[in-house]
Amino acid sequence: MSTTEIIQTAGRKHRLDRILDRVEASLEDDLVPVEIFNDPEVFRAEVDRIFTNTWVFVAHETEIPKAGDFVQRRVGLDPVIVTRDGEGGINVLSNYCRHRGTQVCQTDQGNSRFFKCPYHGWTYSSTGDLIGTPHLVDAYGEKLDPKEWGLKRAPRVASRQGFIFASLSEDVPELDEFLGGGGWMLDLVVGLHPKGMRVAGPPDRYKVKADWKTAAENFSGDVYHLDSLHWSTEEIHVSQGLQASCEIGRAYEMPEGHNFVGHAWTKAIHPGYVLWGYPPEVTQHFDLSGLDEAQLHVVNHEPPTVGTIFPNLSFIRFNTPAVPGGPFSVVTSFRQWQPIGPGEIELWSWQFVWDFQTEEEVLEHYTTGQFVFGSAGIFEQDDTVAWEGIPRAAASPWMRKEGMAFSFQQGNNSEVDQSPDPTWTGPGIRRNTGYGEHNQLAFYRKWLKEMRKGAPARTVDPASTHDCEGH
Ligand code: FES
Ligand SMILES: [Fe+2]
Repeated sequence: MSTTEIIQTAGRKHRLDRILDRVEASLEDDLVPVEIFNDPEVFRAEVDRIFTNTWVFVAHETEIPKAGDFVQRRVGLDPVIVTRDGEGGINVLSNYCRHRGTQVCQTDQGNSRFFKCPYHGWTYSSTGDLIGTPHLVDAYGEKLDPKEWGLKRAPRVASRQGFIFASLSEDVPELDEFLGGGGWMLDLVVGLHPKGMRVAGPPDRYKVKADWKTAAENFSGDVYHLDSLHWSTEEIHVSQGLQASCEIGRAYEMPEGHNFVGHAWTKAIHPGYVLWGYPPEVTQHFDLSGLDEAQLHVVNHEPPTVGTIFPNLSFIRFNTPAVPGGPFSVVTSFRQWQPIGPGEIELWSWQFVWDFQTEEEVLEHYTTGQFVFGSAGIFEQDDTVAWEGIPRAAASPWMRKEGMAFSFQQGNNSEVDQSPDPTWTGPGIRRNTGYGEHNQLAFYRKWLKEMRKGAPARTVDPASTHDCEGH
């Protein structure tokens, strides 16, 4: 290759950089290009640049209350074991044996003082230390230093309201700083009682041919779909007030990239419909003394119904009956959109309940939660069918040829006031409408920022000029 060719190559951009450039330009017009929703190169960059470089939720502390408890989870594509050790500490360990890489833990959850790799028997403690090596002396003599061969540990682990987050990178801010306004919002969702909430059981897990960003973005602010996609639920009296959902919507956008939507149910349903419509037998247990003035206003009048903590943890809380026409109960589901491939996720869904609830109440909440947002839940089925259309559009040769970009322009010409509420005293921005797609755009801007930030330094390799070819 001549010098001129090398210089020309250096001036050309890698394909991924060009895609990110198009995302950046499109976002200026409130558009999102189709090619980021089902592309192997974009997907690989997401797991390398986002999921290995930021805080990711891995488990709730109530899933591993006792010494020896563990659950197997994921950080992006990597399986991790989250353990409670004998000292009460929480450890997030790589589930790859240091000997040859076999998964040392082959089950989803349990209680054990150690993990024995099934291949050659190397054995690790619940803190990840190598504590057993078969035939140590004959196999290794004095040469194997067990201190050097423990399971890899996530360098950063921290909790908020019992939600355990891990970072595979040392170089991240403190968890509370990363959460920012998202932590403030999490506090008012689950911190209404000194003991917070607990899981009602292990998560449902099922595959959906949808992109993780679609689900995360939907839960960060898509109010618009409620009275179309989920309208059948109102027809069978499982929902109420859906037609007013945009009108009474409140969009909370946090500067750290976490976004929420609330609803002024007191306006659409009943003036006494405060605190998500929890009945007095539940609210009598709440202790709201730790909430600040803005939090108190929100929980009483405009509580968050859905939200997303970037990148892939979302929640939904709403009041619904377990059977059409039956008594209502308030469901709280946390869900994680696990990326498993381009345009494909494993959807993990936990039901959460209050610690003070009776077994009967827990059962009722769990049953109701599964009815609406379990793997066969009536809302879940609506959402996932719609979301699965998007990677198909993204894989379409025709749509790529057309340079298709999705519209997030709602609100640009709306007569409904889209401006930030000047009276808002909480963190971030609140808009007093569910119209507009500001939260979703904020999600994609955060995505782009993290994709750029995590980019490796480029060196020009003349042998890899094929990397620069257009598609
Ligand atoms: S791969 Fe685990 S002991 Fe060999
Ligand atoms: Fe939905």
